[in-house]
Amino acid sequence: MKDVFVLGIESSCDETAAAVVKNGRQVLSNVISSQIVIHRKFGGVVPEIASRKHIENIMPVIDEALSQAGMKLEDIDAVAVTYGPGLVGALLVGLCAAKSLAWALDKPFIGVNHLEGHVFANFLNDRELEPPFMALVVSGGHTALLKVKDYNEFELLGQSRGDAAAEAFDKIARVMGLPFPGGPEIEKLAFWGNPLAIKFPTARLDNPYEFSFSGLKSAVINYLHNEEQAKRPVNRSDVAASFQHAVVEALCQRAVYAMRHSGLRKIVLAGGVSANRTLQDTLAAEMAKIGCGLVHPTPSLCTDNAVMIACRGYFMYRAGVRSPLDLNAQPSLKLCM
Ligand code: KG4
Ligand code: ZN
Repeated sequence: MKDVFVLGIESSCDETAAAVVKNGRQVLSNVISSQIVIHRKFGGVVPEIASRKHIENIMPVIDEALSQAGMKLEDIDAVAVTYGPGLVGALLVGLCAAKSLAWALDKPFIGVNHLEGHVFANFLNDRELEPPFMALVVSGGHTALLKVKDYNEFELLGQSRGDAAAEAFDKIARVMGLPFPGGPEIEKLAFWGNPLAIKFPTARLDNPYEFSFSGLKSAVINYLHNEEQAKRPVNRSDVAASFQHAVVEALCQRAVYAMRHSGLRKIVLAGGVSANRTLQDTLAAEMAKIGCGLVHPTPSLCTDNAVMIACRGYFMYRAGVRSPLDLNAQPSLKLCM
């Protein structure tokens, strides 16, 4: 079969990224221009600044991705780009660049759901990975359990109500005065803490596939305020470790339930929080107990990148999926849409 080279483009939040992937599984280049340092001053992503920086960076990043892959634009078989979810102004930059290239080159144009992209990052880490499998999605705004029945067939089992796990990480980090993004900072602080020092409550929901981290987030913030008002010294590492423990426990409990009831043998982690080592290790141990395996992306592919978009785009390309050139950005795009 002829080799297929997909150019992936990603600009949904604060990373401008482009990558070339061969046959969906072989990374030829992976270029990411991160704006984290710029947004850190503001404690979070400022949408207008993100859009402006994407405009400055998008073409140099695409050029660099092609150059690292040793390819010219004409060698590309398809252009895949994130069209949602994300910040509308940020998404539009990547989308316009991708559409213009696809139109000028007369090549297929494929709009990719960013969340599906995160799931597909796992195909780059495990060459043997094939559907069906379960995906625990823990990205910036979403926590969800997704059955990947086939390369282009998914079933959403349940998702978070209120705050996603990553939002709880980021909001608690902000209250603790830690830099943005908060997830990795909480993880570092938690390393020195006792995860059993403080018992934070986790939500009990009727639907065993749903998640809720809003109550946990409020409990941690209330604890910090109460201790401060009572002028009691707070062991910040214990707070971080106990919070992280509560999140990981809630995620693992539902993942184990989902695997027991699905008959599937493999689960993958997807999204920024999948970079968390405690989550990776605990979930791997829980899965081993029930005879299941865990796959997670390599650290650089856990957070936003264009390799995962190119990979997702490749499997859509193979299935004959093509997007119209009037495809618009969809900031609130959901899983399974
Ligand atoms: O999936 P992602 O890159 O963005 C979206 O697609 O929305 O996820 C970003 C989120 C941020 O909230 C960040 O704090 C969190 O992932 N994150 C982590 C870790 N690394 C990134 N959370 C916990 N532990 C980490 N090591
Ligand atoms: Zn993401």
